Amino acid sequence: MTKKNVIAIDGPVAAGKSIIGQYVATRLGFRYFDTGVIYRSVAWIVHRQNIDESDKLQIELVAAQMSLDLDTSNTNAVIVNGVIVSDELKTQEVTRLSSIVAALPGVRNSMTSLQRNIIDREDVVMVGRDIGSIIAPDAVLKIYLTASVESRARRRFGDLSDQGLDISFSQVLQETISRDERDSSRTDSPLVIPHDAISIDNSEMTIEETVDVILEHYRI
Ligand code: DC
Repeated sequence: MTKKNVIAIDGPVAAGKSIIGQYVATRLGFRYFDTGVIYRSVAWIVHRQNIDESDKLQIELVAAQMSLDLDTSNTNAVIVNGVIVSDELKTQEVTRLSSIVAALPGVRNSMTSLQRNIIDREDVVMVGRDIGSIIAPDAVLKIYLTASVESRARRRFGDLSDQGLDISFSQVLQETISRDERDSSRTDSPLVIPHDAISIDNSEMTIEETVDVILEHYRI
């Protein structure tokens, strides 16, 4: 089996990883996979089954038993334990819970093999926090995508307001700072800049400009 190409895009919340990753994947004819979805799926089950968020063992068990398939008819949906989910993964509660479950070593362990199975199958642009550092250390290109915390909070505030959510900018800023803190300070697979990654700060860049810079690096 020939080795598949992986482009790893890691970075903090709301750095534009998803939209930029999707554009890069489309331009290259690669699959796009946002690994945040798998931690959100675990969080969704925890929420649905009313599992206490401090019950680490039960959460790790649920993650180990979780089945997750890509829904090939809808790139934004996944099939979790046989149920097609997409918007359910983006609620405020699932978002909050996802960074809690993502910090549990047992959860990360189960999710590692799941992600490596996807990598083995086809060329993929994989987006997350630890793709270049842990999941795909051999990735052909590693991008660390970031932007100032204010610009990221502004983007997220725009998205949430568009969804009709009644939330203030200062709340979104505070939440972004807390999620950064949780993602970077956990002991297992914290958000780090891989030593061989290309770091791009897109605070002042458009989506198209960022995509072009990434593609230039891929072609070098
Ligand atoms: O990117 P996102 O907001 O959808 O990610 C949801 C949570 O999952 C977030 O708290 C970070 C975590 N995550 C992670 O720890 N590792 C990944 N590869 C992807 C996401």
